[in-house]
Amino acid sequence: MQIYRTITDLRQALKQVKNEGLKIGLVPTMGNLHAGHLSLVKKAREQCDFILTTIFINPTQFGPSEDLQNYPRSFEDDVAALESQDCNVVFAPDVEEIYPDGPELETLVTIPGLNKLHCGASRPGHFDGVCTVVTKLLNICQPDIAYFGQKDYQQLSMIKKLVADLNIPVEIISIATVREDSGLALSSRNNYLSAEQKKQAAVLYQNLQNTANSLQQDSKLNFSELEQAALKNISSAGLQPDYFSICHAQSLQPAKPADKNLVILTAAYLDKTRLIDNLAITLS
Ligand code: PAJ
Repeated sequence: MQIYRTITDLRQALKQVKNEGLKIGLVPTMGNLHAGHLSLVKKAREQCDFILTTIFINPTQFGPSEDLQNYPRSFEDDVAALESQDCNVVFAPDVEEIYPDGPELETLVTIPGLNKLHCGASRPGHFDGVCTVVTKLLNICQPDIAYFGQKDYQQLSMIKKLVADLNIPVEIISIATVREDSGLALSSRNNYLSAEQKKQAAVLYQNLQNTANSLQQDSKLNFSELEQAALKNISSAGLQPDYFSICHAQSLQPAKPADKNLVILTAAYLDKTRLIDNLAITLS
């Protein structure tokens, strides 16, 4: 497995891969890889000839008071994990390579209709940072397929939209969320939690499931009442909920009573750790 730090070196290597007509699969990450990330790499390995994983902690998607400095870094373990999955190349640039004019002076990719909803409301600028870096990574790597997790449902929706809106020739494949036995979605930020807090955090998925079950049994239930009940349960478990919203699965707008394809989106803080999760459901 080769590790490249510069765009020039990476492009040089990819040129040959493309000349050989191989199908390139891209897995963008911020490192600190866990089984969730590796499920993306596994799917890429099944579907593509050549796997490229990027490890880049993108500063522009972190707010000024967020955890950029403390974000878990484990480069050597990540490389070993990727090697064991038969990944071909790791692209791990530094910040200057991706933002040579400085992160503040870059062109921004912004999706006005979605970037202030849900996580975007509490993390101003976050999705502009995500959309910009993902566009850059897609342009740098020019893969045939790029893989993203459903764990970050809003991010995934926005990436699908930017690829369509900007006519980027890549297929986006989404991968189901990998969870602990408790239901807690795997996340690099779970590293901030104690064993006890991880048990507490399972309340998020429990409420997603309970709400989904209630809706499956009676799709006429009042969405707002279900949301309020879930917010109360999450607070009672010792978390500070940010939102718990039953939404239209594509538009991510609040669901209307007749909507059938729904996603329930939630975010909450446990101490300073921000956790997100979601569950997509289709009502009959
Ligand atoms: P990161 O949080 O490292 O996640 C990289 C990819 O792994 C994302 O597509 C994410 O949805 C997926 N992922 C994370 N946890 C998962 C889980 N439990 N199950 C399945 N997939 C999971 O998301 C980012 O990085 C960044 O925003 C990035 C897209 C790389 C842009 O900087």
